[in-house]
Amino acid sequence: MILKGNWASLIMWLFHALIPCLLTDGVAALPAPQNLSVHSTNMKHLLTWSPVVLPKETVYYSVEYQGEYESLYTSDIWIPSKWCLCTEGPECDVTDDITATVPYSLRVRAILGSQTSAWSILEQPFNRNSTILTPPMIEVSQDGFHLVIELEDLGPQFQFLVAYWRREPDTKEHAKIVRRGGIPVHLETMEPGAPYCVKAQALVNAIGRNSAFSQTKCVEVQGEALPLVLALFAFIGFMLILVVVPLSVWKMGRLLQYSCCPMVVLPDTLKITNSPQKLISCRREEVDPCAMAMLSWAWILQPW
Ligand SMILES: *[C@@H]1O[C@H](CO)[C@@H](O)[C@H](O)[C@H]1NC(C)=O
Ligand SMILES: *[C@@H]1O[C@H](CO)[C@@H](O)[C@H](O)[C@H]1NC(C)=O
Repeated sequence: MILKGNWASLIMWLFHALIPCLLTDGVAALPAPQNLSVHSTNMKHLLTWSPVVLPKETVYYSVEYQGEYESLYTSDIWIPSKWCLCTEGPECDVTDDITATVPYSLRVRAILGSQTSAWSILEQPFNRNSTILTPPMIEVSQDGFHLVIELEDLGPQFQFLVAYWRREPDTKEHAKIVRRGGIPVHLETMEPGAPYCVKAQALVNAIGRNSAFSQTKCVEVQGEALPLVLALFAFIGFMLILVVVPLSVWKMGRLLQYSCCPMVVLPDTLKITNSPQKLISCRREEVDPCAMAMLSWAWILQPW
């Protein structure tokens, strides 16, 4: 009887020890991940699924995709996702895999040791044009009298349309395209007296869509009279230039005229045309018209 009991427990032990091995060798396959979905915000695409939970085991996952071309023409070829060949969490950032605005098929399977589950496929192919675009975060500040905006850096696919205006009656809104976020951009030189307001929306050319406008943010130059004083100085300077420059040009002209081509007024009696080149000469010291004339007369009147 005792022996029989021992045999029975030995068989039971063998059975219990072997069952898990039998199971892992294919009897009970590793379950496939369920509930695949893509959460896409601002062109960042995250594939998620319900995790496969096995007590005391770490399950890994691998993700593959097909673009439109592969789906249509080479449907048996799947491309491994760049970052999720073997990933632990129940999610995968597929942003770098999705490079065109076409439907993408995505699939994932679980891995445990040498076992792999069946593939689970995303029900509806994912097109990145369905991404949720949130209004961009903006920082509006003043640098001296400069109105400056800094936009959230959302990556190279994003541009921004920035609208800004001076908040007072009958002012029109200005618009500016900012090509990237993450750096301060000068919008306008502000004058005191009224706040300046700014809002922005994100544009994504790759999908031909834009976000809603952000909240409006306003800044105001503290009411210093400095710009007025500056303007006054500039005006005075301008007027000075306006008056002084023509005056000095005229004065210089006069000076040149006197020193270079003096106007010699001769008495009528001396206006003889026998040596006109002497009269036109431009150097006062060289020619003394009076002396010259006297000399000529002396020559003519010589008695011999
Ligand atoms: C899939 O999601 C549904 C609801 O979102 C949930 O009830 C179900 O348990 C999930 N499946 C798994 C395997 O987690
Ligand atoms: C995305 O693009 C497809 C065509 O490729 C179009 O049918 C669909 O309406 C677009 N969706 C959005 C949200 O623009």
